[in-house]
Parts: sequence; structure tokens; C-alpha cells
Amino acid sequence: MANVTVIGAQWGDEGKGKIVDWLSSRADAVVRFQGGHNAGHTLVVDGDVFKLSLLPSGIVTGTLSIIGNGVVLDPWALKAEIEKLSGQGVSITAENFAIADNCALILPLHRDLDGLRETAAGSGKIGTTGRGIGPAYEDKVGRRAIRVCDLAHLDALDPQLDRLCAHHDALRAGFDQPPVDREALLAELRDIAPYVLQYAQPVWKRLKKVRKAGAKILFEGAQGVLLDVDHGTYPFVTSSNTVSGTAASGSGLGPSATGFVLGIVKAYTTRVGSGPFPTELDDEIGQRLGEQGHEFGTVTGRKRRCGWFDAVIVRQSCAVSGVTGIALTKLDVLDGFETIRICTGYRLRGKILDYLPAHAADQAAVEPIYEEMDGWQETTAGARSWADLPAQAIKYISRVQELIETPVALVSTSPERDDTILVRDPFMD
Ligand code: IMP
Repeated sequence: MANVTVIGAQWGDEGKGKIVDWLSSRADAVVRFQGGHNAGHTLVVDGDVFKLSLLPSGIVTGTLSIIGNGVVLDPWALKAEIEKLSGQGVSITAENFAIADNCALILPLHRDLDGLRETAAGSGKIGTTGRGIGPAYEDKVGRRAIRVCDLAHLDALDPQLDRLCAHHDALRAGFDQPPVDREALLAELRDIAPYVLQYAQPVWKRLKKVRKAGAKILFEGAQGVLLDVDHGTYPFVTSSNTVSGTAASGSGLGPSATGFVLGIVKAYTTRVGSGPFPTELDDEIGQRLGEQGHEFGTVTGRKRRCGWFDAVIVRQSCAVSGVTGIALTKLDVLDGFETIRICTGYRLRGKILDYLPAHAADQAAVEPIYEEMDGWQETTAGARSWADLPAQAIKYISRVQELIETPVALVSTSPERDDTILVRDPFMD
């Protein structure tokens, strides 16, 4: 197992950025395989902060970084992110960065539609990041997307634009919006095309070559399993499959390449946007978790909802994603709590459940069953070995591990790369 696939096992924002950065310093290639610039990964390297949305985290360390076909790509967001990172001294070239030529594009009309729908939905809104992710995936599976490879054939784009605009004009009319300005869209595409095309290639082929040469590949998932379009809290989900299996289809390497599946798990729970959240705390404890954990979205700046650790959803995520081991993050946020609670099951209309049911109304109605543990007063921030942790913190980790039926491979104790306790090295497994 030379490769590692990293996925979020809750609702995203589990601290994947740091773990991916730590692993990517030892990988030969890092691949994004789903999502788009709705993701937000914060890396802290030698005190410098890098905020990534679309680019694979390996880019900061100069590791070969690849955007796979499963991603939806906003070319203008790509350019802005590359320019920002270049300004921070990160070198991004066609040597160390590649984009799948069969990647579907996010266009301004997708952003428009995302916003129009959310506004019209009022209190029933999904709470999307407003980046056009959902509409872009819809056009991809609806077979009317403009893809990266089309940018090299803009003179032959008319039939595709006909299909795309016919669809969007009808939707826009329903929102009292003017039709798509087709000429303006084409002009924008002509303008950005050379920039994107310098990185475009059949990445499945490049990855095949890299793999054959014995490279270690890191697949970098975005969002979390509870936001998966199949396995998540539907319809309050993103529009891609966020589970580990997507690493295979979203990169062009088969399932045998995915290797060690590392589920990133926060020591408590957070969620941004709308939708069910059984252990959410609407009180001063939730407030304290948010403050101690600096729980504000990297992409939208929105305040994250906070709650106790929910072992039921994490156990389910680990099962549906075939997680080999977890990385437990932000343990230090629980420092100083007198007592800590863990959700071990749900009560639903008099019945006890050991899983999250599929129906949205049931998901909203489940009541968490908690067990309580003494907390610890010492700090765990910066711990790099078990010996640095208070006994109660070790007890907490053991209990989490037992309840989710999945072993702990790493524990992260601060945003700094080296503040990590390594139990089992995913690359050496
Ligand atoms: P979309 O992906 O922008 O369509 O948003 C759909 C849902 O996924 C919303 O609840 C967003 O808040 C959530 N979401 C999307 N990306 C992320 C992420 O990177 N972290 C956490 N939540 C996300």
C-alpha cells in the first residue's frame, strides 16, 4: 500500500489541510478528485499561512499536484488562486501542476444559478458556498458541460453552447432573468483558454506513468462523507461523491490505487450550511467550541455550527468509505472542559438506532444518546507523543476509537505540521 487517500469523515472542515500537507511532504504526487473551489484548506508551514480552495495541497511544497477529472473547475478562480500563491513565493509550472483535460468547467452561469436558487429557496436553502458547484455537476451528468479540452476547440463550440444555453435560458426565465449572454461567455472563454490549457493533459496517463515508476500518490478529498451526494444528509449535501471510492473514478486510476484510506475526524463536530446535525449545541458549550476551535469557514467566512463528537456518524462514514485508520484533529480544543460528551446512539420515536437513517425528516428528528467522561485540565496543544498527553485525553481517544470501530493512525494537536502523534504511518502500511 504505497498510496494514501484522505477523506473527511464528518461535514468537512475536519482539518484535512494540515494532514494532507504533512503527508504530501512525503508523497510524489497529490491528486484532487472531486469538488471544486468550495473546499477550503488552510496550511501553516513554518508559520506561513496558505489558503487553498482548488489547488491540491502538495502545490505549496512543490510536489507534483494534479486536478483530476472528478473536479469541477472554475478557470477564473484557478487563475486567481495561482496568482495569489505565486505572490506568496509558491512556484506553479506545467512541470509540477496538471489539470485533467476531461474536467468539467464551472462557468459564470453556474454561479448565477446557484445564487438564484438559494435566494428563491429562502429558509429552505441548502446553504451552499455559492460557487456554482451543484449546477456545474448537473450539467456534467446532463451531458451539456463545457470541459477543459473544449477550450482548445472554441471555434467548434456552437452546438454545445446551443444545448447549454437552451437549458439555462429556460431556467433563467423562471427566475425572471435575461438569457445567457452567449457572446460575452465565449469572449471570456477565449480570454482564459490559453491560461488553463498550459496545464491541461490526460492526467490518467501521467498518473499511470508516475505509478509505474513506483511513486507514492496522495489522493486529497474535499468536504466530508456526511456531505456526500449519496451517503450524506441529502438534500443538504454537496453535489459530488466525497467518499474514498471517488479517488479512483475522479482521477482515472482504478480502485486498487487508493491504498490506505485515512479518515480525518475532528475531536468534536462542526457543520456549515443548513441541514440535520444531531449533536449540535445551541448553548455556551457550542459557543466555546466555536471560539476555541476558531470555527469560521475558510471559503465563505461563515460561522460553523458546533457540537459534541458523534460516534454514530463517524462509524457510518468509516464503513461507507472503507476507512483504514483515522487522523484525530483539534484535540486541544477540548482542553479545559470539566466534562465531555460523546454521542453513542440515537433515539427516534421510541426506538434506539445505531446509525443515521436516510430520510431527512428522521435525520432531523433523531435525539442523541450521550455518555459522559471527565475532561482534562492540562493542555494537549503541541503534544508530539502519547507521553505528552494527559491520561484522560488518552482515555477519550481510546473510547472514540472503540466506538467508531476504526483505529487511530494519527493525532493532530495544533495547526503546525510537526505537532502530530504518529501511531501508524499510512504510507508504510
Ligand atoms: P456546495 O458544495 O457549495 O454546493 O454546498 C453544499 C453544502 O456543502 C453546503 O452545506 C456547504 O456549506 C457544504 N460545503 C461545501 N464545501 C464545503 C467544505 O469544504 N467544507 C464544509 N462544508 C462544505
